Amino acid sequence: MLILSDQDIAKLLTMEEAIGAVEGAFAQLRRGKVMMPTRSTIMLPKYNGSISFMPSYLEESGAQATKIISIYPDNPKRGLPTTAAWIVVNNPETGQVEAFMDGTYLTGVRTGAVSGVAAKYLAPKDARVAAVFGAGAQARNQAWAAATVRKLDEIRVYDLFKPAVDKFAADMEARLGIPIVKAASGEEACRGADMVLTATTSKTPVVKRKWLGDKVHVSAIGAFYPDWRELETGIIADAKVVIDEWEAIKLESGDILIPIQEGAIKESHIHAELGQIVTGEKEGRTPKDGLTVFKSVGIAIQDSSVANLVLKKLRR
Ligand SMILES: NC(=O)c1ccc[n+]([C@@H]2O[C@H](COP(=O)([O-])OP(=O)(O)OC[C@H]3O[C@@H](n4cnc5c(N)ncnc54)[C@H](O)[C@@H]3O)[C@@H](O)[C@H]2O)c1
Repeated sequence: MLILSDQDIAKLLTMEEAIGAVEGAFAQLRRGKVMMPTRSTIMLPKYNGSISFMPSYLEESGAQATKIISIYPDNPKRGLPTTAAWIVVNNPETGQVEAFMDGTYLTGVRTGAVSGVAAKYLAPKDARVAAVFGAGAQARNQAWAAATVRKLDEIRVYDLFKPAVDKFAADMEARLGIPIVKAASGEEACRGADMVLTATTSKTPVVKRKWLGDKVHVSAIGAFYPDWRELETGIIADAKVVIDEWEAIKLESGDILIPIQEGAIKESHIHAELGQIVTGEKEGRTPKDGLTVFKSVGIAIQDSSVANLVLKKLRR
């Protein structure tokens, strides 16, 4: 049995390959070739945290994995990561455990990758400027994925916590070779941006409709409780909206559920699930589209597909 650390996994994974694996997983989901119970979550309000259990099986790629993930937004104050995870990979034929993987780094990559898949189909082809909200672990991967699918000239970052912004700018400029601009406000980050990527622990909207230009793609991955959201109702109401999966969104996504409860949109306003876009059943951005939104709460097939990719690369 293999035991892999975040460092082992970081050496093996590229964002481009992760985007390919996650895109393949969403196509299999759409073809009905996936087993994936809804995420089972224990909420621990006393500690402002949650622990979730996420099993899935991808029939076509033979990938099975189960992730246990904790989200503790107050952890950075203790010097610990907000998001921490472990993944167990079983052999689908024999049930034997094949690998234990640290899932913290992999979660960041697979969450970046799903936004990368969405941006491939929804972001303006000539997108040059991306604004990232949040300067934490997920935000880094959102920036990495955006820079993988579009030729960016500039990435702007905005976070309430200044030291996180400084570290993000230093780390990501070195890593991506793209100038990172530290925005003084959310509005400044958004002005003239072609892509806006939210990856914060905020419970209330961080992006306002009036800050966004005419042709902008927004990807929101931070909030995953029914009463939390990162985007104003007006953004969802005005956009062509693509979601990761309806079942998960209906249980967890305030970004979509709140505008429905407010009567601002109906369910039929949602253009597609990502699987319908990648299989070509529904179209992505067309020349007449202005604002597009991708909302993801994160689903287990992202983990099994990328964990499978790690094992394949290791065995090669
Ligand atoms: N969709 C998914 O698949 C998925 C996967 C993993 C984590 N997440 C979610 O992503 C979020 C971020 O996770 P992380 O691991 O990067 O956390 P993190 O703590 O490393 O980073 C979050 C950052 O958001 C900043 N922030 C909070 N409120 C803000 C605001 N109003 N404006 C600007 N910045 C603000 C914080 O200061 C922090 O730096 C969490 O809510 C987590 O639940 C989603």
